[in-house]
Amino acid sequence: MYSNTQNYILSLRQDLQITEGLEETIYFHSSTQSYLFKGFSNGIRKVVEILKTGGGSEEALSEIILQEDGEIGFPRFYYYLQRFMNLGLICHSVLIGPDVLATYIPFSPGHSFQHTKLDMNSRYILSRFAYIRREGRQSVLESPLAHARIVLAHWQASAVINLMADACSCQKLQQHLPRLSEHDLERFLGFLLHAGMIEEVDWDSINPEEHNEVLQQWEFHDLLYHARSRMGRHDQPVGGTYRFRDKISPLPASKLPMSRERSQLYKPDMEKLSEQDYPFTLVLEERKSVREYADQEISAKQLGEFLYRCARIKHLHKANPAAGALYDVSQRPYPGGGACHELEIYLCINKCHDLEPGLYHYAPDHHVLEKLSGLTEDTEALLKDCSYSAGLKDLPPISIHIAARFQRVAWKYQSIAYSLILKNTGVLYQTMYLVATAMDLAPTALGSGNADLLCRAAGLNYLEESAVGEFILGNKRVK
Ligand SMILES: Cc1cc2nc3c(=O)[nH]c(=O)nc-3n(C[C@H](O)[C@H](O)[C@H](O)COP(=O)(O)O)c2cc1C
Repeated sequence: MYSNTQNYILSLRQDLQITEGLEETIYFHSSTQSYLFKGFSNGIRKVVEILKTGGGSEEALSEIILQEDGEIGFPRFYYYLQRFMNLGLICHSVLIGPDVLATYIPFSPGHSFQHTKLDMNSRYILSRFAYIRREGRQSVLESPLAHARIVLAHWQASAVINLMADACSCQKLQQHLPRLSEHDLERFLGFLLHAGMIEEVDWDSINPEEHNEVLQQWEFHDLLYHARSRMGRHDQPVGGTYRFRDKISPLPASKLPMSRERSQLYKPDMEKLSEQDYPFTLVLEERKSVREYADQEISAKQLGEFLYRCARIKHLHKANPAAGALYDVSQRPYPGGGACHELEIYLCINKCHDLEPGLYHYAPDHHVLEKLSGLTEDTEALLKDCSYSAGLKDLPPISIHIAARFQRVAWKYQSIAYSLILKNTGVLYQTMYLVATAMDLAPTALGSGNADLLCRAAGLNYLEESAVGEFILGNKRVK
């Protein structure tokens, strides 16, 4: 017998679609994987059907093979079962009485569950990277360290996870949850151990994760974000899937006017600039962060030139679904994933010649500044935060707050939307650095800022549009 699968209910992953092709070929496909099989006997076809609709024990499945194909069918059955497992297509479930206690669902090839005997006297603890969340109507246990997720089908499975926040032996778990037999518990803990959700602790109740210098330097949210926004450690669709098409309208390329107080900004003569500008290599080589400002204030004209060269809309292309253009896109001086250009620029003006202090929004379609407020407690707090981040003694002349209209990107992209936004923010940072260098201004990018504070100051909804980056700008002190 195939001992690895004994006592488990085997099933095919729910996300797999099975379709028949020509010449008895069968395709298994999900949003991220596709496999072709040939040569299924009647017995194997029945087994696949059962695996797809609820599953069965290895014993029950081999009974079907015996009925349909006879004993001669067993080698083929075990060959395919092993192949499905190697490809990460098979889920394992543990029962508690007639109910499912938990199901182990692999994400990718090479990560099927393998039964290993547990030391029942050892103590185990939950990994600090494991977390439970709701998916549909199920609780799932996931971890960015894992190549599988575990569905906690029964509350007793969730109770085990709760208890394992502290190091626990099987015995201790059983004292708390007497309905769980040692046998069920061992198999469930086997899932957890195999997926890396729990680890054995040493005499001092320390688990290997805590000794590991590499893992120590990963924070939970960073590792989760890394795992979920790259391919490999999850089974979700990735890229431009347009999952809200026909359900939610995409956002327009630029925002509606935010204020009636609008001032047209200076537009530089680009032809003249391309003749007179510093050479590209010089700009690139001279670029640096500058945190010392001249006494002479930066002017509205300089700010106009800076914004025009960094962030104006050069061309706008309206959506044309019949021609395959599903949403409005624009071209700006800097590139942006999917040409969504979700980044919005807000400016906190502290000192700028010809511009009153206060908070402004840059409208890139008309190249105008929209005044949102004068200097208030919130806008001063924005300037103070930037001053602190850059280690300045005084408030910066201008702080630039880059916010993202998240749904511009999330409407199209799946799994990577937020990571795209941060990449786009980096791209805009560098464009600002280069333009500021070419204009002899003092630029500095900032790594932290208060997203809630900008929302309060500019009247934004945190979930719709909030700050993802900050930058400070002024006139460079000449030494
Ligand atoms: C994403 C990013 C975040 C940054 N965060 C800060 C910051 O919070 N405070 C600061 O003073 N400088 C910050 N900087 C500027 C860096 O300190 C600076 O780029 C680095 O020291 C190299 O110096 P250089 O820009 O003069 O080449 C940041 C730069 C980047 C690209």
